[in-house]
Amino acid sequence: MDLGKLNILVVEDDSDTQERIVREFNSLNFATTTASSFYEAKTIIQNSANNFDLFLIDIQLPDGDGFSLISEIRNKNKDALLIIMTGYINNKIMDKSNKIDCYEVIQKPFSIKNDIIPLAKKCLKNIYLKKENDYLNAQILHISKLAALGELSATVVHDIRGPLTMIQLTCEDIKDEMKKTDNNESFETNLNSHLSQITRACHKINKLVDHLRNYSRKDAQEEEESKSVIELIENSVFLVKQKIRNHNIKVEIKIDEKYNNAELICFPNKFEQVLMNLMSNACDAMKESSKKELKIKAFLDDNSFNISVNDTGSGIPEVVLPKIFDSFFTTKPKGEGTGLGLSIVKNIVKEHLGDLVLSSVVGEGTTFTIKLPISKLIIKPSSGGGPSPSRAA
Ligand SMILES: Nc1ncnc2c1ncn2[C@@H]1O[C@H](COP(=O)(O)OP(=O)(O)O)[C@@H](O)[C@H]1O
Ligand SMILES: [Mg+2]
Repeated sequence: MDLGKLNILVVEDDSDTQERIVREFNSLNFATTTASSFYEAKTIIQNSANNFDLFLIDIQLPDGDGFSLISEIRNKNKDALLIIMTGYINNKIMDKSNKIDCYEVIQKPFSIKNDIIPLAKKCLKNIYLKKENDYLNAQILHISKLAALGELSATVVHDIRGPLTMIQLTCEDIKDEMKKTDNNESFETNLNSHLSQITRACHKINKLVDHLRNYSRKDAQEEEESKSVIELIENSVFLVKQKIRNHNIKVEIKIDEKYNNAELICFPNKFEQVLMNLMSNACDAMKESSKKELKIKAFLDDNSFNISVNDTGSGIPEVVLPKIFDSFFTTKPKGEGTGLGLSIVKNIVKEHLGDLVLSSVVGEGTTFTIKLPISKLIIKPSSGGGPSPSRAA
């Protein structure tokens, strides 16, 4: 597993101290970048603050105040680890350091080997563990997606058959008409309509293939972007279409009219993964139910934008509840459950600064509600011909 080197920015105007710090870090296989002045550091921070895991900053710089550099770092990288180096420590410095959540303030003169390196190693250990954790979570997510890919392929194969048959029949029609036609004009009109049909069918197939390709892609590097709430929900329903079909489940999507055109700032693939996992569990829970209804709602309350997934399934027994978010916990038969779904859901919802709320009644059903900060929602005015707010999928 290669998590890459940990990167350190050393801002120190004293060239001798800077050189010695760099030498020590490099010998330990860390990657260091240096700046000798306020302005040099400012340029590096403005361009690449997110590339660094640790900032070692001398706050007394000849051409500027180290603390204003630190505010700049915090604006761009709120998790940055900061160690301040200073010629003297007083209350004012300590106050400011606490406010910006600095890891440690260290007074000069210091021993690089005995003071700086152990300190840096200690705080970088957490970063390393976090990176390792992110890496493992990404692996788990990908593995669980691959596990679901088989089911998705069945949906795609099923759905491709329709447009393919359409293409085949339309080509037969064209051939027949070519044989019998002696009226060029009517043949041309028919040909045009046949070709439009073929193009539509090809679009359908392309869309399905795109779905499959997007789904199997690795998401580790996914960027946050704004994506239509309806599209997120519909794409996720598509991912569980096979289960919906197999169990004959009625699906209803309800979105407050006002948010019909709303967009969500999210990692779209990951977010679809959340909805897909919740819907997939909901479908599984309804296997034996007489009433099989899957309802997905999007609505706003005082504090959050919510998307809920509700089923009329078995419900979750109280003894099982405390374990359902544990990785590898499943009540499903071997081969059916991986026990990864809800732990992935929880991680991704957290990554979106949201909460997951659950209510369940045994024998009646379960509702999982994703609660997201309202700041993640972009509300756009409804344009007349938009999709209807409530419809069956
Ligand atoms: N909607 C639901 N209704 C009933 N039980 C559920 C529901 N969602 C999750 N569960 C329970 O939580 C367990 C863990 O779910 P999950 O982490 O997705 O793993 P898996 O689906 O592979 O079992 C399930 O095995 C099931 O017992
Ligand atoms: Mg599951």
